Parts: sequence; structure tokens; C-alpha cells
Amino acid sequence: MRRLPLLLLWTTLAAAAVNDGIRRYLEKDRIPHWALRSDPNWGPVHVQPEQVHLSWAGPNAFWVTWLTFDDVREAVVQYGKTTEGRNLGRSVNGKMSYFKDGDTVRFISRAKIVLDDDENEPGDFYRYRVGSNRGWSSIYEFRYMKPREDGGYEIAFYGDMGNENARSMGMIQRMVQDGDIDLVHHVGDYGYDLNTDNGRVGDEFFRQIESAAAYVPYQPTPGNHENANNFTHYFHRFTPPNGGDPIFYSYDLDKVHFVSFSTEVYFYTDYGFELIKRQFEWLEKDLKAANANRKEVPWIVAMGHRPMYCSDFDGDDCTKYESIIRTGMPGTHAYALEKLFYDEGVDLLFFAHEHSYERLYPVFNRTVYTGPNSPYIDPPAPVHIVSGSAGCRENVDPFIEKPEPWSAFRSSNYGIGMLRVFNATHLRYKQIVAATESVEDEIWLVKTKHGNYGKNDRRRMEKHGIYVPYSFNASEDND
Ligand SMILES: [Fe+2]
Ligand SMILES: [Fe+2]
Repeated sequence: MRRLPLLLLWTTLAAAAVNDGIRRYLEKDRIPHWALRSDPNWGPVHVQPEQVHLSWAGPNAFWVTWLTFDDVREAVVQYGKTTEGRNLGRSVNGKMSYFKDGDTVRFISRAKIVLDDDENEPGDFYRYRVGSNRGWSSIYEFRYMKPREDGGYEIAFYGDMGNENARSMGMIQRMVQDGDIDLVHHVGDYGYDLNTDNGRVGDEFFRQIESAAAYVPYQPTPGNHENANNFTHYFHRFTPPNGGDPIFYSYDLDKVHFVSFSTEVYFYTDYGFELIKRQFEWLEKDLKAANANRKEVPWIVAMGHRPMYCSDFDGDDCTKYESIIRTGMPGTHAYALEKLFYDEGVDLLFFAHEHSYERLYPVFNRTVYTGPNSPYIDPPAPVHIVSGSAGCRENVDPFIEKPEPWSAFRSSNYGIGMLRVFNATHLRYKQIVAATESVEDEIWLVKTKHGNYGKNDRRRMEKHGIYVPYSFNASEDND
């Protein structure tokens, strides 16, 4: 008797197995399977909300995303200022969508909290819980974002953190809960993999990061480990600033225009070539607009999963092969990203995928600028950083013996990066070792002007740049 409605539900939901890039919410006045019987003692079975996480929705807004294993019909966030004691007197309704992997249907709820300026101020703290009257989460807290007193936000940057061997997780949790991290960018490769065991590893991973992600925005970028069924888990489990498809997006935070893009569209072309074009055209438009807005938002920081340059000893993309992301489609060089980023004066590029840390000297078109003066003061080309050693079951990657001249610092320690943009001219990046919480590398990127790399920059590159030929490491056997 009880099986019938569930079967009915699964038949109706079958179409949701694979991501097609469109977010479909359940109708507000839908009748869930358990409501087909007008019996007050009959209800949804798995009602407890879990895997709660925040993401950025505006200067004064947050998305709250969570999961239930049954359709509980309602998705509510209740919240209140910490100064109001235990009163969670405010509430906002969310919407529910779902996806299916194997035999498991997952219901994802999304709600947007907007803190209007009449009653709320940057820096205020709030307590919140999510769910419905059928089941509530624990109570978490968030803070109306406010730049630190000496400028900017503390932003964690890392990639490649799994459910097993998540070596940086304790440090990330501690830093978030102590107020040392204001926002996280996890630049691809989650859980290893979110879809493993019909998504049970993904569930474990989101439970694991909840201790950080329920407190500060946890911003996603797709990696190769998310590719299953056209990035279905990635698409459904994360919420980008506009609430839609998280494959590429951008937003302004204080003095920085952040751009997250997918390197994976160049590799998983079985899901359609048109995505490469769509993303490239969006990036062109987005970066042009951001470049024209430097007076308001001077810095542009872009991030994608697979790096354009690296010196790892794993026979992987950027060591052994020319980077398709950098140079575009074979033959035609269409949709090449390095030139686009250079043309729009992107300041900093952030990558992961290699399970190590590497800081590069300013580089463009395989030409590296190391001086004569400090290469990080008004560099004539973008600076690249690769930080994919947060910790996963694949451990860390070693390096080739003789790094290319673009390699300024490299380490195979587990750890995360911390970015702080203090003002229009000064940005600091630190790499922190998870085992000791010590800083193993730190640079200041100083820019007295932002915008296109100009004639003077090209002259400096021509005069002092070092071109790295493809044959540079031909003798290294890095299979
Ligand atoms: Fe990875
Ligand atoms: Fe990867």
C-alpha cells in the first residue's frame, strides 16, 4: 500500500536524472506523494534538512541551500539578529527542486535572504535555521558582510578537497568559525566524487563542509571530478549568485570583480560544443564590462579548475600537453582564454587541479617576466596561482626536477590560499600549510593602475621577458 505513491513519484521525477542547465522548481501548490491520502498521520519519510550551505547573493544577501531526501513541500529559513537573543522572528520562503541519482531522489531547497538597510547593518550577526515544521536543522550563524577595518575581506582559495583525506578541513572550519575567513572559493573537484555510490559520497562531503559552509559563502567552480551525467550533482547542489546554472558566473565584492569559469567545457564536449562558445561570449561581455568599471571595482580576479601553466610531474594537462584552455581549439585557436584575459587586463588568475601549490611569475604567451625590478609591482601580464592541495584521496602531486622559468615558488604540502585585497593598489596572497597552520609563501601584488596591459607593458615584456620554448623540458620523462 505504501509503495504505490513512491513509485508514482519516481516515475514523475525520472526526467530529472541528468542536468540540462535549467533549474526547474516544484510547483508551489503541488501535491506530494504523501498528501495523496488525506490522512493527517501520513507524511513524508525523510524530513530532516541537512548539508546546509551559504553562497553569495549580493552585497547584502545570501543564498541558503540545503537537502532533504523527501519532498517536505515547504522550504523556510528562520533567522534573527544575535542581539535579539533566541528569537528567530524573521523568515523567508524558498523553493525546492530535485534530482535523481540511481535509486535516490534528492530534494534541494534554496532560499535567498536579503538584509534591507532599514533594520540591518554591515557587520551584524544573525542566527538561522532551515527546514519546515516537519524538521529543522541545527542553528547556524552568518554575518552581514563588512570589509575589515584595514580593508577588504579574507578569502580562502583552494581546490581538490575530497571526502577522504580532506587534510585542510579542520583548519578551514576553525578559521571560518573564528572569523578568520569571510568567504571561500573552492575551485573545483569536490568529494571524489559527488556522484560516487549514487551520490552518497556527495552527501558525506556536503555534511563535512557544513561546519564552514553554513557560516560563510562557499563559492563553487566546476572541476573534472564533477563531470558525471553532465555535472548533475554540481549543478543541483550549488547555487551561484543569480540562482541559476553555476557553470560560470561573476560578482563584485568590494574592490574585486570575481569571475568563475569552467575549464571543463573544453574537455567534456560530449555534452555539447556550444557551451564553449556560450561561455566564451559571456566571458568577453562580462570582462569588457568589468574592465570599463575599474574606477568602481579596480581588480579582476578570474578562476577556473585546470591551470594553463604548471610544473608538476604527473603527465597531466599543463605539464605535458599544450593547454587547450590557454590556446583554444586545436588548429583554429578559437575560444582561447589566455589572450582574452590578457586583452581585458585581468590582474590575477587562480587555478587548482594539480594537487600542489605553485605561484607563477607574470606570464603571457609562454613569455615570463621576472624583473629586473619586482615582477609583482605593476606586472606587465597576469599573475597565475595554482592551489589544488586542500587534500583528497589522490594525495599530492610531485614536481618535475627542472621547473620552467615561470615557476616562482612551489610546494607539495597540503594547504589552502588566503587572498586579501586591501584597497585599489594592494593585494596579498598567502599559502597556508594545513599541518602547521604556518605561511609557506606570501606575495604582495601591487598595481598603481588597472586596465589593459599597454605599450609600456609590451615593451617591458619584449626587453626582459623569457620565452619558454615547448622543447624546454623535452628531456624530462614525465609520464
Ligand atoms: Fe583534483
Ligand atoms: Fe581536477
